[in-house]
Amino acid sequence: MDRHLVGLLLGTEEDWPAAFETLMRRLGPVRAGSGEEHAFDVERITIEPFDLRAKPRYNLVIDRLAYWYYVPREWLKKVALMDDVYLLNSPFTFQSMEKHAAYCAMMRLGLKVPETVLVPYKNPPDHAKWAYTARRYNQPFDLDEIADRMGYPLFMKPYDGGAWVGVTRIKNADDLHVAYDDSGQRLMHLQKAVEGYDVFARSLSIGAETMVMKFRPELPMHDRYEVAYDFLPPSAGLEVLAISKLINAFFRWELNSCETLVAGSEVYPIDYANACPDIAITSLHYYFPWAISALLKWSAFCTVSGRRPRLDTNTRDYFDVADSDRSYGDKLAEYARLADAYFERDWYEEFCATSLASLDEIVRDWVASPDFDALLVDTVKSTYPAHEQDHFIAHFRGLLSLWVRDNAK
Ligand SMILES: Nc1ncnc2c1ncn2[C@@H]1O[C@H](COP(=O)(O)OP(=O)(O)OP(=O)(O)O)[C@@H](O)[C@H]1O
Ligand SMILES: [Mg+2]
Repeated sequence: MDRHLVGLLLGTEEDWPAAFETLMRRLGPVRAGSGEEHAFDVERITIEPFDLRAKPRYNLVIDRLAYWYYVPREWLKKVALMDDVYLLNSPFTFQSMEKHAAYCAMMRLGLKVPETVLVPYKNPPDHAKWAYTARRYNQPFDLDEIADRMGYPLFMKPYDGGAWVGVTRIKNADDLHVAYDDSGQRLMHLQKAVEGYDVFARSLSIGAETMVMKFRPELPMHDRYEVAYDFLPPSAGLEVLAISKLINAFFRWELNSCETLVAGSEVYPIDYANACPDIAITSLHYYFPWAISALLKWSAFCTVSGRRPRLDTNTRDYFDVADSDRSYGDKLAEYARLADAYFERDWYEEFCATSLASLDEIVRDWVASPDFDALLVDTVKSTYPAHEQDHFIAHFRGLLSLWVRDNAK
């Protein structure tokens, strides 16, 4: 029997890792198409000095740390370059391709990213060469004139942001100057606001799968994802799906979320570079069983199939489509085809239908089990103050009972 070790690089999260470990245990060994058995072990990775030539034991690593913690980030680079360990996600493209690069690439491919301008630092970076360089080469600029040209309302937000830090909606010149003064040493984008959109669609992609969800950014986190069905016109739904797949395949991101604003039949992507998307049960609730099974399925597929991690990108294939005289719709269809090819979608689906044929039943049993309820209760207890716990336990139990209803055989 082949054994595959999945490593988890974790920070403060306890809910989804415990869920993932439990579900892997409940799944047990699986049989590949050729008949041989494969078993999975899951282990939480610890952080310690490492020899660059040491051989890691892991076949695949799910990373939740590299976006801020450089020891595991550099270990990930080492195991990717030297040992072919499969990573969700690769720090190579997530470090170099942040929100700004993602905007540029998707504009190049013809997506309807709102007009965006990069504004130089309000306060200069601390560097001995700055004063001379700026005196010699920095052009004076008129921020009001840029904003007037773009037209209010605007958003000012960090070029590489996350978690809504430093994001401001700007209605007029006063707001503009307050936000710019506050930005300090942070490099900012000024972006045209998409006004009066009908739906905020947030999609979570895990490997070859994408879940498009209705998002309400104005509500507290536990209420932001609404349990909603058919909330997009069919063509916009397909477009959001195609855009999500495209972005992930283009950058080799395999665990990522993508935000699009849908106004009528128009789809505007506004944020789609989240190296560590929120997958907490208290955020995803109804969608949590899907997320954990998708993580399990993709981990199993990549290890059992021997899928090789790709550190290189094939941007030219996408640019060739972008530069062709196809219509926007035809380009999107072609991007989606390239993305499906990258994720080996057909093979993945066949693997799920055969080697993981019992998984749906296993997930149903698990979600209905005392194990799962205990996980929910423990997570609520460690997330909310004592006087809110009963309320939230009932709230999430209600949402998960919807999942049980919708996924009954
Ligand atoms: N161009 C825009 N038009 C309309 N709303 C916008 C625009 N840009 C940002 N927003 C609003 O501001 C929020 C935060 O912006 P953005 O997602 O770019 O930042 P972030 O720091 O990555 O946030 P998060 O980590 O929560 O996704 C969005 O969820 C959206 O509600
Ligand atoms: Mg966002």
